[in-house]
Amino acid sequence: MSSIPSNQLAADQVAVRQFLDRTVAPAQLSSSELADYKDRIIRLMQEKNARLVAHYYTDSVLQDLAEETRGFVGDSLEMARFGHDCDAEILVVAGVRFMGETAKILSPNKTVLMPTLEATCSLDIACRIEDFAPFCDAHLDREVVVYANTSAAVKARSDWVVTSSIALEVVDHLMGQGKKILWAPDKHLGNYIQRTTGADMLLWDAACIVHEEFKSRGLQDMRSLYPEAAILAHPESPQAVLEIADVIGSTTQIIKASQNLSNDEFIVATDRGIFHKLQQLSPNKKFIVAPTAGEDATCRSCAHCPWMAMNSLDTMLRSLEQGDNEIQVEGELAEAAMRPLTRMLNFASEQHLAVKGKA
Ligand code: 13P
Ligand code: SF4
Repeated sequence: MSSIPSNQLAADQVAVRQFLDRTVAPAQLSSSELADYKDRIIRLMQEKNARLVAHYYTDSVLQDLAEETRGFVGDSLEMARFGHDCDAEILVVAGVRFMGETAKILSPNKTVLMPTLEATCSLDIACRIEDFAPFCDAHLDREVVVYANTSAAVKARSDWVVTSSIALEVVDHLMGQGKKILWAPDKHLGNYIQRTTGADMLLWDAACIVHEEFKSRGLQDMRSLYPEAAILAHPESPQAVLEIADVIGSTTQIIKASQNLSNDEFIVATDRGIFHKLQQLSPNKKFIVAPTAGEDATCRSCAHCPWMAMNSLDTMLRSLEQGDNEIQVEGELAEAAMRPLTRMLNFASEQHLAVKGKA
């Protein structure tokens, strides 16, 4: 149950719309431009001792480039770990803003650049520190656990930061200590954790605009078309979708399931950027995008995060050439946000959770 007033939710929706209106689709490059941009980027990265850390939802060109240049492609927990452990002087983070901020907080001595600083996240937008701090103040008896998809200020106000690959374990651990939880911002993920662990959780009310569009009705219809397919879903999806999923997990956990399960077909309820890696690792398997609320003109995301889509070779080149789009997190804030982030990374190591991404 949330105690966010409904006028706050309406304001959040307006704010998300305003940010969406500012998204710019990257320019389409010809194959010769693409090769030229890649050459220039690789040269600059060598000269400047830079590494590219990319999320699975970004353009396949960026994912390939990260792997070709000793960088990294992964989920948000692994990206944080890699950025922290690697010895580069510059990290170029292809993803959304909270990922760049996390990298900077964990590596204050590195320069962190992003192809664009406009790439945000509907969860981050809908959880402003001005609203969140009083919410925490009103529930001081609760451990504050926030999703990584939040601003540095919200992280700084939390006891724990978690990503989707570790959220269940952390909440289970806290429940074992008899703690009650205040969770923000993703209500679907929070609900899923609450249902799975049985923890006492007070939930903030926000959602991912991409995952919220997956519909259980369409998914049921699709399942009857592909009766042998396993359904893989990210836990930011609505409860009705999760209830019919065969596997629920973070992006990396979805990829692992696609490799480990014997099915030849998969219906996947997450951003379609992940299909690049899924298909690369299992070229003989078939991956189908889970149905969304509308088609092209009518859905807001159509299974692709509009902010992740803003990362491109040309914006990355510009950022490297001009040192543009550097992420800065003010000293005291960074220190306060580092505590719950470090707690998460240490917890992951202690649990021997499969955290890849060692540089
Ligand atoms: P992962 O941590 O699973 O990569 O998810 C990040 C995200 O933003 C999902 O929408
Ligand atoms: Fe945020 Fe959703 Fe985009 Fe992930 S996919 S960055 S949760 S808006």
